[in-house]
Amino acid sequence: MLRASDYSLLQKIYSKSEKKISKDKNHKKTKVLSKDKINLNNLNQNGFCILRGVFSKKYIDNHRLEFQNQIELLENISIPRDLTKQTKKKDDIFLPKLEKKLFDLGEKKFKKYTDSVKIRDPLINLPKILDIVLNERIISICSNYFGFKPYLTFIKCVKSYANKLNDHDTQHFHIDESAIKLLKVFVYLNDVNSKNDGPFYYIKKSFLDAKKKWGLKLRWDEKYLKSIYGKKNFIPILAKRGDVIIANTIAFHKGLKPLKKNRNILILNYGLHMDYSLNNKPDIKARILKKDYNLQTKKNRTVLDLLEKVN
Ligand SMILES: [Fe+2]
Repeated sequence: MLRASDYSLLQKIYSKSEKKISKDKNHKKTKVLSKDKINLNNLNQNGFCILRGVFSKKYIDNHRLEFQNQIELLENISIPRDLTKQTKKKDDIFLPKLEKKLFDLGEKKFKKYTDSVKIRDPLINLPKILDIVLNERIISICSNYFGFKPYLTFIKCVKSYANKLNDHDTQHFHIDESAIKLLKVFVYLNDVNSKNDGPFYYIKKSFLDAKKKWGLKLRWDEKYLKSIYGKKNFIPILAKRGDVIIANTIAFHKGLKPLKKNRNILILNYGLHMDYSLNNKPDIKARILKKDYNLQTKKNRTVLDLLEKVN
């Protein structure tokens, strides 16, 4: 049976890695800008923070257009899952992929049958996003949260479709169970102005007792969570393109399904060790071109050290 990795195992792995990193000067935390002190404080108190206007709109638009271009060419896009094979059980998160024949008809056709598409190897196929991964403000907040400069442990770039299909997978409430301490960074590639636009939906302060809920269920019922945490703590995190959201996702959260317009997002994980998947197995590593890695300064390479370097 599929289950979350053991908390105690991940705790040991985390401590071991923390000990090792603490002796490495390259992992020394960087200084927080004075304007970000409040953001770091919000992250520690509430479980999330929003950095406004980190990137220019034009810069973000370029990433979105580059992603869209590859979707239209069906280049470097993973074949998405077939949501018509969905069952009523929230826990059924694994679905077969769409038939290749349907996928090959292009986005206009296949978007009615799936919740989202992702680009394969984002650091290779959208190499300019490295600037986001290594952004000084993001790294300084993350490093002050962990106490050390963390690694990038996972990255994905997703377009979620506004369609009539039911919620699926991470559109249901869950806790990330890939490490005992981890930060997720969300960069919307289009403005998310309302609950209808598919925001990240977070239960404020639920990180405080997430450990107790660890491993009990893969996906959780919203009504039940409202009865525990209170409706007022359910926060749809709205932000413009160019803003950055940083969240402790060892807390209840989900992505709201967009209802009117599609939502594009870049999601980065930072942590002190590799992410774990289900059943105590390390997750697959994100990949980067060796040449892009080698072009970086030593300081920046530290953040990229856990990635798989490929030719
Ligand atoms: Fe999650």
